[in-house]
Amino acid sequence: MTILLLGSGGREHAFAWKMTQSPLCDQLFVVPGNAGTAAIATNINISPTDFEAIKALVLKEKIGMVVVGPEDPLVKGIFDYFKNDDQLKDIPVIGPSKVGAQLEGSKEFAKEFLMRHNIPTAAYDSFTAETVEKGCDFLETLKAPYVLKADGLAAGKGVLIIHDLAEAKEELRNMLVGQKFGEASSKVVIEEFLDGIELSCFVLTDGKNYKILPTAKDYKRIGEGDTGLNTGGMGAVSPVPYVDAVLMEKIETRIVKPTIEGFQKDGIEYKGFVFIGLINVNNEPIVIEYNVRMGDPETEVVIPRLKTDLVELFLATANEKLDEITLEIDSRSATTVMLVSGGYPENFEKGKVISGLENITDSIVFHAGTKLEDGAVLSNGGRVMAITSYGNDFQEAIKKSYQNIAKLSFDKMNFRKDIGNDLL
Ligand code: AMP
Ligand code: GLY
Repeated sequence: MTILLLGSGGREHAFAWKMTQSPLCDQLFVVPGNAGTAAIATNINISPTDFEAIKALVLKEKIGMVVVGPEDPLVKGIFDYFKNDDQLKDIPVIGPSKVGAQLEGSKEFAKEFLMRHNIPTAAYDSFTAETVEKGCDFLETLKAPYVLKADGLAAGKGVLIIHDLAEAKEELRNMLVGQKFGEASSKVVIEEFLDGIELSCFVLTDGKNYKILPTAKDYKRIGEGDTGLNTGGMGAVSPVPYVDAVLMEKIETRIVKPTIEGFQKDGIEYKGFVFIGLINVNNEPIVIEYNVRMGDPETEVVIPRLKTDLVELFLATANEKLDEITLEIDSRSATTVMLVSGGYPENFEKGKVISGLENITDSIVFHAGTKLEDGAVLSNGGRVMAITSYGNDFQEAIKKSYQNIAKLSFDKMNFRKDIGNDLL
């Protein structure tokens, strides 16, 4: 079949890499893609949220399935757009319906869902500009640090963790009244702070059945030792060594099952990935967020460990037959290190020539922010490429990633040199 993949990051290159290995994939289009996807598929330079242009492409190329990488098209309702269009309604879209995507699009929606289905989550309340003083009173009832979350999508920047009460009140006013994150912070969720180790759980569901994918840990901060600004993610390791069977069992029975049952009880159509952000507090997993897509760079370590045909898995998702599939997982570890542009996550330059790609051995290069120009691969974003390796353990894998990174260069290239060190 002919498949369309939406997105342009390392996550999408990893999906494309895996899908093009499937005998079920005759042709793959990527919208808009990057230099990595260009080498294995056909990039089409349209926006993943331009639904009219996507429709025209789908009809012209007789596309049989659409796989959505990032959250934006999902939150804007691409699933419903296909479902409600006579010419598109039989073409499966891998991703939740618009209301399902609210689990990521609105923190308040997610909190209400969690409470309604008795899924463990931090205590909270939400406030608007009209109730900002009540919000300040609520902060007084909590212990420091204070967790303030913009309700809407804020490009991963909408969560503030503040130690000082006066400062927390001031930031609450900035968010609600000063529109610090624009429309996204017209509502703010204030949440109890959870002290523990973070981990992520990735699930693929057809709305009834589900498969839990390998665990992965991501490194969010720009600086070594988890310092500095938050980024989209600077590296990842799979599996996460400290997640044992007992913890996984708790996550499945207390969180994954009630989440999928919650979709059914609430009549939420959901055929896609659920990325559950958790904090493990004294061996009790507690949900801090839902994302309605795979993580990036977690995908660059999870997908390489998947032995099962990804297209087969997506078709089973579309046909509500995930129960008929047995996941096969590579027992090796996988690690990835993200090469980023100097200055990221703040200001950075693009258009730098990336050299040394031909010298890579024994690692997989997943492109993120790259483009092809006159045959040369140029940087085209903050996160430029993820270098993924396998090993018998994560130490062996990470060593290979760093050996290969030494062969790569571009002007002002930056990366974290301590991925995995906290797991030793
Ligand atoms: P989120 O976008 O909800 O994942 O939040 C971003 C980051 O803020 C998370 O990755 C956590 O590190 C942190 N965080 C969010 N909620 C809490 C909480 N209730 N307690 C402690 N840390 C949190
Ligand atoms: N790496 C975190 C995310 O994709 O949201």
